[in-house]
Amino acid sequence: MKIIMLGAPGAGKGTQAKKIAEVCNVPHISTGDIFRANIKNGTELGAKAKEYMDKGLLVPDELVCDLVVDRIQQSDCEQGYILDGFPRTIPQAQALTNALNAIGQKMEYAINIEVPDENIIRRMSGRRACVGCGATYHVVYNPTKVEGVCDVCGEALILRDDDKPETVKNRLNVYHEQTQPLIDYYKNEGILVEVDGTKNMDEVFADICKVIGVH
Ligand code: AP5
Ligand code: ZN
Repeated sequence: MKIIMLGAPGAGKGTQAKKIAEVCNVPHISTGDIFRANIKNGTELGAKAKEYMDKGLLVPDELVCDLVVDRIQQSDCEQGYILDGFPRTIPQAQALTNALNAIGQKMEYAINIEVPDENIIRRMSGRRACVGCGATYHVVYNPTKVEGVCDVCGEALILRDDDKPETVKNRLNVYHEQTQPLIDYYKNEGILVEVDGTKNMDEVFADICKVIGVH
C-alpha cells in the first residue's frame, strides 16, 4: 500500500498515518518527524531545518526531496509506505512522481483530510507531543491517562515550538499557497481521495479504511 497523506497542518495526517501504517504493516514516513529527530540529535540537517520550521515556513525542497526518495527505496518499503508531510510543494510532487517512474512504481492513493482553518487553530493549541517517543495527544480530543505524561513511554509532554498561535497562522498561509495546489495535482493523476477530517479520530479512520479497502 503506497499512500500520501494530504491536509492542512493539524488536519490529523500524523494521527491517521500511524493507524494506517499499523494495519497495513508498512512504514510511516513523516518528514516533520525526521526533521524533529534531527533537531533533537543536533545534526546539521536539523539546524538548517529548524530555521524554517520555527517561523512556520517550509524547509527548502532540496533538503527534503533526496531524503524521501532515498527512504522509500529502503528494503522495509518494498510492501509500501505511508508518506505524511511529503510532498508539500508542486516541485516535491514532481520529484516524487519522477522517482517512482524511474523505479517502475506507482502511488496508489493521495488521501486529503479536509478540516476548516478555524478547527485547526483549536487542534494545534491543544496538541501535546512526547519528548521521549514523539507520540501525539490532544488535551481534549485525545488526552493521556495521567495529565502531562506519555501513555507509551512515561516521558513528559510539551507544546511543539511551531504550535504557538502566531506560527500556526503562518503555517496555514504557507499551506494554502504552496501545498493546497497538490489537491488538483493528485486529482489529475486520478488517485485523490477526500475524507471529512472534522469527524472524530475513529470515524475518520473508518472512512479511510473504507476507501482504501482495508478492514
Ligand atoms: P509536520 O510535522 O509535517 O507538520 P504539519 O503538516 O504542519 O502537520 P502536523 O504534524 O502539525 O499535523 P497533522 O496533520 O499530522 O495533525 P495531527 O495528527 O498531529 O511539519 C512540521 C514542519 O516541518 C513544517 O512546518 C515544515 O517547516 C517542515 N516540513 C515537514 N515536511 C516538509 C516538506 N515536505 N517540505 C518542506 N518542509 C517540511 O493532529 C493534530 C492535533 O489534532 C493532535 O493533537 C491530534 O490529537 C488532534 N486530532 C487529530 N485528529 C483529530 C480529530 N479527528 N478530531 C479531533 N482532534 C484530532
Ligand atoms: Zn512517549
